[in-house]
Amino acid sequence: MNILVTGGTGTVGSHVVQALVGQGAQVSVLTRDPNKAAGLPAGVKAVEGDLLKPATVRSVFKDIDGVFLLNPVSQTEAHEALLALSGMQLADVKRLVYLSVHHVEQAAWLPHFGGKVGVEAAIKVSGIPYTILRPNNFYQNDYWYKDAMLQFGIYPQPLGSVGLSRVDVRDIADAAAAALTSSGHEGQTYDLVGPELVTGESTARTWSHALGKEITYAGDDLDSWEQQSLQYLPDWMVFDFRMMYDYFQKHGLKASPEAITRQTALTGHAPRSFEAFAGETAAAWKS
Ligand SMILES: NC(=O)c1ccc[n+]([C@@H]2O[C@H](COP(=O)([O-])OP(=O)(O)OC[C@H]3O[C@@H](n4cnc5c(N)ncnc54)[C@H](OP(=O)(O)O)[C@@H]3O)[C@@H](O)[C@H]2O)c1
Repeated sequence: MNILVTGGTGTVGSHVVQALVGQGAQVSVLTRDPNKAAGLPAGVKAVEGDLLKPATVRSVFKDIDGVFLLNPVSQTEAHEALLALSGMQLADVKRLVYLSVHHVEQAAWLPHFGGKVGVEAAIKVSGIPYTILRPNNFYQNDYWYKDAMLQFGIYPQPLGSVGLSRVDVRDIADAAAAALTSSGHEGQTYDLVGPELVTGESTARTWSHALGKEITYAGDDLDSWEQQSLQYLPDWMVFDFRMMYDYFQKHGLKASPEAITRQTALTGHAPRSFEAFAGETAAAWKS
């Protein structure tokens, strides 16, 4: 089976590539930068292209059986996804797994959620056999906070106190590989989540334990978070994420027991815990 992974040089996609290679699939990765080919696992082919370019979407899906479609947060995210979907229709692709977001329709005013609501709707009428994956907030986002935790003892992600069912990216990869390589997942939408609810305070406590030093939650003040974030992220993204954290602080992002059961059946294992992720990560940082 020939599978094309978009975003295969990024956080989620690189794990999807590893999981697919582990299952013996022939994998290609679309990248705008051919120099990244060197970082791909042996046997994985890099294909140069850009999902914003019609020439790419006309050519890249030829002779591809299955596609993992990931479009990172940008001001053209939905446009890239719809161009890709059009290209898949032209090439008569037989399987599509799309990366969306948990409870995406419940906060559809957020630009990077609402774009995915539209893309999900387009996928459902495209005629391409699809599976939609809707992950919660990634554990691996915490890599961004390594310096804040190790140097200043602060956990800055303003997750609030209602709680999120955060997820390990490796579980997303396992779900994507299963949905692309085994039958019975066509037309299905899966929430991808962790086993427990975590809050800003509980996340800081878990990191304190894993790192063996006091980590303090920076708190729910979104004005302060916005001022800090504008130093390294573009304003349109900071605004989108600020509104998302406001939603998380008011409503959380919680998994149902049924979602965990369905995910476990799809991946063949229980969701990885945040505590285990933090422990592994702290050990790697210490070494
Ligand atoms: N972070 C979270 O907690 C979370 C939770 C739920 C859902 N999500 C969703 O996950 C997605 C982000 O995934 P990620 O963190 O794995 O992304 P990432 O690490 O930022 O990787 C982005 C990837 O997209 C590729 N890319 C960017 N623009 C492209 C273009 N125009 N054409 C082709 N490829 C392009 C990049 O490839 P090259 O640079 O090699 O070209 C790279 O491989 C977003 O849709 C986000 O909403 C995130």
